[in-house]
Amino acid sequence: MSLDASPTSRPSTKPTTRQTLSKKDTARTRALMNKHGCLLCHTENGQESLGPTFKGLYGSYVTLKSGKKRLRDEAYLKQKILDPASIELAGNRGVMPPFKTTFQPKQLNDIIAYLRMFSTHTIPSTRPKR
Ligand code: HEC
Repeated sequence: MSLDASPTSRPSTKPTTRQTLSKKDTARTRALMNKHGCLLCHTENGQESLGPTFKGLYGSYVTLKSGKKRLRDEAYLKQKILDPASIELAGNRGVMPPFKTTFQPKQLNDIIAYLRMFSTHTIPSTRPKR
């Protein structure tokens, strides 16, 4: 099976987690995510599933329940994975199980790095005015 994780382009920001994973770490992280069902509810190819696709997620903006916009940066993604209900989003989006006690910090960082590979967004230095 070929891993469809080789990014065609990469975010050009300087993230705090590793920007790319080695082939081995990519395979390991993907297996970890498979094990925990992430890829049952999220796709990597842009198709909506139970949850939103991972494609283009990192670095894009999401609308919160309050109507405010929030950048999907590393901190956001981490919190959304650990405790999805702690950030309420606009719309009727279904429920994701929390993974608060599932991952070690390194595993979580690798997952974030993995998610970043599916996005060409860069984190802008200023937030949009609204
Ligand atoms: C049972 C289905 C299910 C599983 C399993 C699941 N998710 Fe989700 N996920 C969802 C749904 C539904 C949402 C949208 C609801 C929300 O944002 O609270 C979501 C939201 C998210 C978001 C935020 C999306 C956004 O629009 O900002 C991220 C990031 C995420 N999931 C990552 C993961 C990761 C990583 C895993 C595995 C560790 C995982 N999910 C496992 C269903 C799932």
